[in-house]
Amino acid sequence: MAPWGARSERARAALNAMPATLAIAAAEHRSPLGPVDERLARFLRPGALSLQALPPLSLYVHIPWCLKKCPYCDFNSHAWQGGGEALPEVRYVDALVHDLEASLPFVWGRRVHTVFIGGGTPSLFSPATIERLIAAIRARLPLEPGCEITLEANPGTFERERFHAYASAGVTRLSIGVQSFDDAKLRALGRVHDGAQARAAIAEAKHAFDTFNVDLMYALPGQTLAECESDVAAALSFAPPHLSIYHLTVEANTLFAHAPPALPDDDLAAEMLDRIVAETGAAGLDRYEVSAFARAGDRARHNLNYWEFGDYLGIGAGAHGKISFPHRIVRQVRLRDPAAYMAGAERGGAAASEAEIDRGELAFEFMLNALRLRDGFELARFGERTGLPLSTIERPLAEAERRGLVERDLRWLRPTPRGFDFLNDLQQLFLPARV
Ligand SMILES: C[S@@+](CC[C@H](N)C(=O)[O-])C[C@H]1O[C@@H](n2cnc3c(N)ncnc32)[C@H](O)[C@@H]1O
Ligand code: SF4
Repeated sequence: MAPWGARSERARAALNAMPATLAIAAAEHRSPLGPVDERLARFLRPGALSLQALPPLSLYVHIPWCLKKCPYCDFNSHAWQGGGEALPEVRYVDALVHDLEASLPFVWGRRVHTVFIGGGTPSLFSPATIERLIAAIRARLPLEPGCEITLEANPGTFERERFHAYASAGVTRLSIGVQSFDDAKLRALGRVHDGAQARAAIAEAKHAFDTFNVDLMYALPGQTLAECESDVAAALSFAPPHLSIYHLTVEANTLFAHAPPALPDDDLAAEMLDRIVAETGAAGLDRYEVSAFARAGDRARHNLNYWEFGDYLGIGAGAHGKISFPHRIVRQVRLRDPAAYMAGAERGGAAASEAEIDRGELAFEFMLNALRLRDGFELARFGERTGLPLSTIERPLAEAERRGLVERDLRWLRPTPRGFDFLNDLQQLFLPARV
């Protein structure tokens, strides 16, 4: 799944309720899609939208395995149950390369601005495998000079020892999933590392990388305000260039959904967020997105491209992609099960579904992303990225203004502090039925 922040439950519910275009085709062992040239010809036909220019393109690569499944996690990640066998990393990277090659016609001639290798736990793959993956990407896609290449890592001991080698392999930015420094909380979250390992991993990342991110979560089972503050202080003591701090959400189909732990109530969680914003701000980190805090110059360029409704090719099990053409925008989803994905990619058919996003969904998806940014978006961007006139969202926009949730001038539109606090309510105004 794209690593673009803890998704709000209500916005997600709205997305889940969307009609067929985003639904994954059922066929898991045979791509239901036709030959590439026919698909491409369909996407290049004249259509209702008119995009003046194609947006920046990113590449997302999904690695679907973890040592153990965390009870709160609904990402497409699977505990590796190889019965003592090593991960099939060579075969998986071969499958990624097949997948990438089959995707090239859809992004022909376009440069890649950022690469994100996420999961799952990509740091389970050896540096040599990651190096081969990056080399294979570079050989097939023109990367912008200075292209950000992020790798997600868990803070376990054997992973930490690999950090320098990942940097040598071409990774420019590490994103470490710390979640908390408190051993009891880490146990409650089912994490496979402890607080000491988390600290050692951050110290190592500081040596190995010019820029890195630390993921934390708050409103954890039984967490007090003081415990939350102490987690944030521990992270800030390393002067991280970037922090992502997510409100722990109980997602459907997770162990936590079946056996919910006692979580802080909404008032306490709101107090925690206030403290988080104050402490990170005092440390010089700017809250530029709902869950993202960065030093000047260290914003996550890959994630920014999602929030700014850029394009991304998604390869790997269950990966999502969004690709623009002059008259339509297409959503692609890869086969979710790792074994089915590898078999599919080897046969030339790793995609599970591919569909044009329709107008109402397009406007909603743009707003769902852009409103997460504290500075909102330039009004001209809406037309540039969706191919739709701004009048498409005039009604909900006027309603959002009336409720004091957004403010705009002739050039920009941004959520007000109140809109930022009640982001779900704001985003819901743009649901497909309303635009
Ligand atoms: C793709 S995940 C994983 C990275 C890595 N596998 C790890 O767990 O350390 C990216 C981040 O999403 C956040 N996350 C995952 N599930 C969440 C949930 N249910 N609620 C809030 N944040 C969540 C965690 O902070 C996690 O580090
Ligand atoms: S390690 Fe990360 S991706 Fe894997 S199960 Fe835990 S939260 Fe999910």
